[in-house]
Amino acid sequence: MGKILVTGGAGYIGTHTSVELLNAGKDIVVLDNFSNSNPQALENVKKITGKDFKFYEGNMIDKNILEKIFSENEIDAVIDFAAYKAVGESVQKPVEYYTNNVSTVLVLLDEMKKHNVKTLVFSSSATVYGDPEVIPITEECKVGGTTNPYGTSKLMVEQILQDLYKSDNDWNIAILRYFNPVGAHESGLIGEDPKGVPANLMPYISKVAAGKLKELSVFGNDYDTKDGTGVRDYIHVVDLAVGHLKALEKLNADKRGMHIYNLGTGTGYSVLDMVKAFETANNIKIPYKIAPRRPGDIATCYSDPKKAKEELGFETKKSLEDMCRDSWNFESNH
Ligand code: UD1
Repeated sequence: MGKILVTGGAGYIGTHTSVELLNAGKDIVVLDNFSNSNPQALENVKKITGKDFKFYEGNMIDKNILEKIFSENEIDAVIDFAAYKAVGESVQKPVEYYTNNVSTVLVLLDEMKKHNVKTLVFSSSATVYGDPEVIPITEECKVGGTTNPYGTSKLMVEQILQDLYKSDNDWNIAILRYFNPVGAHESGLIGEDPKGVPANLMPYISKVAAGKLKELSVFGNDYDTKDGTGVRDYIHVVDLAVGHLKALEKLNADKRGMHIYNLGTGTGYSVLDMVKAFETANNIKIPYKIAPRRPGDIATCYSDPKKAKEELGFETKKSLEDMCRDSWNFESNH
């Protein structure tokens, strides 16, 4: 059995997936340039699993580092997490986002082709559905209508992968469309650690709980939802990580070819549900105020998780309480 290259393996979802891969007895090689992560995260992956792995520091845009990895290791699959993911920042820095999220993938695919490695699991996002035509969202729903370079970069790579597969059916590709990843490993050693003021809900709530931010702004309470606040499909990052393992195992077994899966729980929670759940799970009050809607936000977004369940045997196991408890456990450990 060869090794799995995990690009962006020091990041939030990369570290959690590396833990699941190592715990399942897989051999991994990690590539990261620490643009939004740090070496300690990798040390913590080793601590959690008691296992070691090879690490290369560099940027995927650099074909030399990929060349080195593919020649020095027997790689038979790649899981690609190496990307920027801040929606607001992507509007300010489109060139950087398209370079880092699209150009790098082209370099990776070219190197994979050269070394005859044709199995890839790619990190995509529910953001590719734009303003969804139906809820819950199935994989057959129309994609497009993305409103920022981050979302568009994910859509572009999905298209590139479809074209690649059309050109050569030997490829085995799983595109995973994540809903809203939250939570952290139960050890509290790895988690989401955004730089600056968090843009996403759960990290923001955690910072308010820690007293580092004064109060949460709830972006709009006049949406067409049960309490007027936005509804999303929050998925525990450890469940999400397991989804990658399942997708890879299926690609290597009876599900060769090109596949797209939603990774979500299928349940939508509102912003106020999240505030309440966090308060109950951790016994901490979260002060909040109602603020105007955030431009680009939609009312409701949650997945139909049926395809991943039927084809991958993937089902989320963690509860909303687990998500809130583990997010706070990680935050308060730091
Ligand atoms: C965002 C991105 C999405 C990305 C995902 C995961 C946008 C438009 N979409 O999704 O592309 O894949 O993060 O990183 O940014 N909220 C508040 N107050 C806050 C923060 C958020 O009320 O301070 C609300 C939002 O209005 C929304 C919900 O909480 O209703 C979730 O927001 P967020 O965590 O930013 O995720 P999304 O917007 O769903």
